[in-house]
Amino acid sequence: MSKSLHCTFVKGAIPAEIERESILNISTRNVTTQTHGFHKYPAKFIPDIPRWAIEKYLNGEKGQTILDPFCGSGTTLVEGVLAGHNVIGIDVDPLSLWISKVKTTRLDMAHLVGISAWLIKGIKTGTKGGFKPECETVGHWFSADAIAKLSILRGLINEIPDKFGTNRKTKDIQDLLMICFSSIIRRVSNADNESQKTYVSHTKTKQPEQVNGLFLSQLEMFTRRIAHFSASVNPKLRKKYVLSSSAASLEKSLGREKIDLAITSPPYIKAIDYIYNQMVELFWVGDWFEMQTQEKQNSQKGKYIGNKSMGKSEFADYTPYENPLGIDGLDEKLQQVFDTDQKNGHRHSYVAFKCFSDMEKHFYQIKKCLQKETHYVVVVGDSSVSGVYFETADFIMQIAQRNGFTNINQWGYKIKNRYMRFDRKGRGGIIKIDRVLDFEKK
Ligand SMILES: C[S@@+](CC[C@H](N)C(=O)[O-])C[C@H]1O[C@@H](n2cnc3c(N)ncnc32)[C@H](O)[C@@H]1O
Repeated sequence: MSKSLHCTFVKGAIPAEIERESILNISTRNVTTQTHGFHKYPAKFIPDIPRWAIEKYLNGEKGQTILDPFCGSGTTLVEGVLAGHNVIGIDVDPLSLWISKVKTTRLDMAHLVGISAWLIKGIKTGTKGGFKPECETVGHWFSADAIAKLSILRGLINEIPDKFGTNRKTKDIQDLLMICFSSIIRRVSNADNESQKTYVSHTKTKQPEQVNGLFLSQLEMFTRRIAHFSASVNPKLRKKYVLSSSAASLEKSLGREKIDLAITSPPYIKAIDYIYNQMVELFWVGDWFEMQTQEKQNSQKGKYIGNKSMGKSEFADYTPYENPLGIDGLDEKLQQVFDTDQKNGHRHSYVAFKCFSDMEKHFYQIKKCLQKETHYVVVVGDSSVSGVYFETADFIMQIAQRNGFTNINQWGYKIKNRYMRFDRKGRGGIIKIDRVLDFEKK
């Protein structure tokens, strides 16, 4: 490590001991290695963070159990399995859990090669699509050629159980092929690739990639990486993926599991609409979990912490004055948003209030499931709501402490990969630091 005035440069592994309040500038090559690069996902954290926590707190002792209660696309879970541990991921987002499952599931490689050969033949000879998305505006999002080819591909993936049986090995391969299929959707669509919101830009014209060529190159990458993963991880490890809210009863989700380490990055206030982000993918794969139409997608948004899509009636009676959270500085910020933003202040203030009160529910729940002295590493970034800066990490710290956690350390790191990290500081200013809050259950 070499130290500059404000930042400590880290090349290679993050050191076990980190000075309190320091900011690391981490140069990482791990973001897309292994199975991490299978699918884009908004606000992924770098694999180096869970890797650091696992090495520091599980001391190389294999077979422990790691929990990520907001697991997203499974970065913690992949690192956990690679390090020889059992993993549990919880998320409200079905596509994220599915990506997590595929990224952490070993495959029978000979079987995958056989099914892929059949699929490739079908792609080359297929003329008629076997799948039609339930979306009236599909022509806005995709060219006619892309629709025809995606339709053939998805139809073939659907046929796999009929052709190769319904056993677990085949199902795992069908899952991988569906996630591989999903991974190309945004790139072959007319929608902007980089933006967190799904929209077709009229100023920045996009040249969508070709469906078959892109699918085949993704399939080659998936196959190579899953082969390496399957050969390197212990087949006996337990993996559990739970579709549930981590602000609701975790005892129900976790049963009698003994958790040895928890690592997560929870959602940010008002920053990311996960469903809107995945809209074009959901048109093509959402039928597997009843989210294939925009109407069905919108009906699920209320489950996501930090989401801002809610009816006016939900916040009609809300005032920060009458609903204090009792966190130093936070109630004042909520009042500021409420008072100063004439147009959206009441909604935005309520959305932020709800986000913190959901996080309070979460800490109350997770405290009941972790044993004494278990570590909980939480990565958060500060945010802005209606131009008012929220020191989210400080507020989360207070919430965790009053729910039975001791803060052992806190440090930050510079965010380098801007992919789908949306403006968390109001227009124009992307927050550059994520904070790592290291807690221990009292
Ligand atoms: C910052 S992302 C996590 C990204 C993850 N660390 C990764 O590397 O992919 C936050 C996640 O919280 C999930 N989430 C939002 N509300 C939730 C809730 N009530 N319970 C569980 N998960 C929730 C979102 O679906 C999203 O996947």
